[in-house]
Amino acid sequence: MLPETVEWRGGALRIVDQRALPDELKFIDCSCVGDVALAIRDLAVRGAPAIGIAAAYGVVLGVLRDRSGLDGYIAELASTRPTAVNLFWALERMRRAALERRDEPDEMFASGMLGEARAIHEEDVRNNRRLGAFGQSLLPSSASVLTHCNAGALATGGYGTALGVLRAAREEGKAIRVYADETRPLLQGARLTAWELSRDGFDVTLICDSMAGCLMKSGKIDAVIVGADRISANGDVANKIGTYGLSVMARHHNVPFYVAAPRSTLDLSLESGDEIPIEERAGDEIRRLPGGRSVPDYIPAWNPAFDVTPANLVTAIITEDGVHRPPYGF
Ligand code: MRU
Repeated sequence: MLPETVEWRGGALRIVDQRALPDELKFIDCSCVGDVALAIRDLAVRGAPAIGIAAAYGVVLGVLRDRSGLDGYIAELASTRPTAVNLFWALERMRRAALERRDEPDEMFASGMLGEARAIHEEDVRNNRRLGAFGQSLLPSSASVLTHCNAGALATGGYGTALGVLRAAREEGKAIRVYADETRPLLQGARLTAWELSRDGFDVTLICDSMAGCLMKSGKIDAVIVGADRISANGDVANKIGTYGLSVMARHHNVPFYVAAPRSTLDLSLESGDEIPIEERAGDEIRRLPGGRSVPDYIPAWNPAFDVTPANLVTAIITEDGVHRPPYGF
């Protein structure tokens, strides 16, 4: 059984501390907006949909104390990470819900806001299952799939996007073998995807990011499936750094490259991926090496957390309303 990534528990938000996995399954209890903002910024909770859900509950924590601070809570949560549009989408939903309920007495207002956060959470799980059902139809009855980062239950309200497609394929009786990229620098693939999938009984094999090309060349990969943090109107996809390189290699080796994401990851206000803000993180994340060693801090490091895969390298984008192929008319 997988733990609930994000869980509302009697007036507090319990989050799986993903920084501690896979060594330890630890939880953080957030009791105020600042706790949730810190958990998002420090990647205790991460993955585009999970960030949005956590932020929605974060707003609830704020209004339970003092509803007059709503704009400040939203601003604080919005400042945590710039790339995943699900964060801004969820906060906008909370803002609208507050506006609709502005004349309600405090208790009714707070319970309505909690209802909205719960709806965002539950819809995400439902949408994951729907997109999983569409996505699994793209896979043969026996398939080896390469994935990058973690787009699973840990990154969402539950079930997962890219990993949801694999779960749905298995539920259809398909034989699914997964290769998980380790995903440097923070190793979401090694620490989270490999853990999540093996705990769920999948046949999962870990590879270093640098092995993906060689693996595709060997003919062992039938499809690449990844999640997304933001998709622009033309179908360009921002996702974890390294995704773009995989798409180039997939095209070279004639391997289909699929992106699975809920519609809350679409940003139709942006024409192309050039407009997507890309988070840059501290160079120390790269300088710290597996095994506790490190590169001296006088060595400069460039650490973009995401890259943009151009639409022409994406075979299809799977959302809860179907399989979209270019030219995209989301
Ligand atoms: O920096 P992270 O771990 O939040 O990056 C996560 C990803 O890039 C995921 O692939 C993406 O958010 C999709 S999660 C369903």
